[in-house]
Amino acid sequence: MKGVILAGGLGTRMLPMTKVTNKHLLPVYDRPMIYYPIQCLVNADIRDIMIVTGGNRAGHFLELLGSGEEFGLKALHYAYQDGGNAGIADALRRAEHFADGEKIIVVLGDNIIENNIAAAVQSFRQQERGAKVLLKQVEDPQRFGVAEIANNKIVSIEEKPKNPKSDLAVIGIYMYDAQVFDFAKQLKPSARGELEITDVNNAYIQQNTLTYEILQGWWTDAGTIESHYRATQLIAQGGANKI
Ligand code: DAU
Repeated sequence: MKGVILAGGLGTRMLPMTKVTNKHLLPVYDRPMIYYPIQCLVNADIRDIMIVTGGNRAGHFLELLGSGEEFGLKALHYAYQDGGNAGIADALRRAEHFADGEKIIVVLGDNIIENNIAAAVQSFRQQERGAKVLLKQVEDPQRFGVAEIANNKIVSIEEKPKNPKSDLAVIGIYMYDAQVFDFAKQLKPSARGELEITDVNNAYIQQNTLTYEILQGWWTDAGTIESHYRATQLIAQGGANKI
């Protein structure tokens, strides 16, 4: 299985810090944000990794990460998302050639977790087809994609609902089979003008091939001032990804 880290977007919720650099190059505690999703994949024994980035300072990723030697990798692959903020699913489309028909695990560049996801990855390796998402109970589901569960299945996911049907956020770690690129190509921009990963996940629900697990250990995004501060505190208190 190959890994894809999505580190594009404009990071407007973190201005002015993101005015001259990419959000994922900002520090979170003692290292750049992008280190955490890379380590998350490496810890799950995913060693073939592409970083999709965008915006003005894309070259800085190469300067910082090079071939990924610091993570024990032989090579890192890069792709560029033209056009700024067209959405997570738009960024993902840039990885189609890299995926080359294999299953992929996609990690949002601003998501940080405490534990190792190797077991979930292993169970997806054995899943014949479809996709798998990871859920986490949160206090502020309005900020996320929110899963509605019935009879141990996800029956819908709503993106940033005003009245969430549960407190289970869909975290930014997704596992997909090769159909993901067909679903992503069929998307129409949402009300906020983006191609939404939630619409991709709902396509798998329609097909009845979306599975889920509840993530153990803490999870946070780091894409707003508040969540970035929280991420720093969590890492300072107890590490992340057992790095
Ligand atoms: O953190 C988990 C949440 O991430 C999910 O629960 C939501 O369903 C999902 O839509 C997403 O929500 P956000 O609104 O927080 O996503 P954001 O726009 O902050 O983008 C998250 C990452 O995705 C960002 O760090 C880089 C990447 N991205 C985003 C956009 C909009 C791209 O690579 N390109 C893009 O155009």
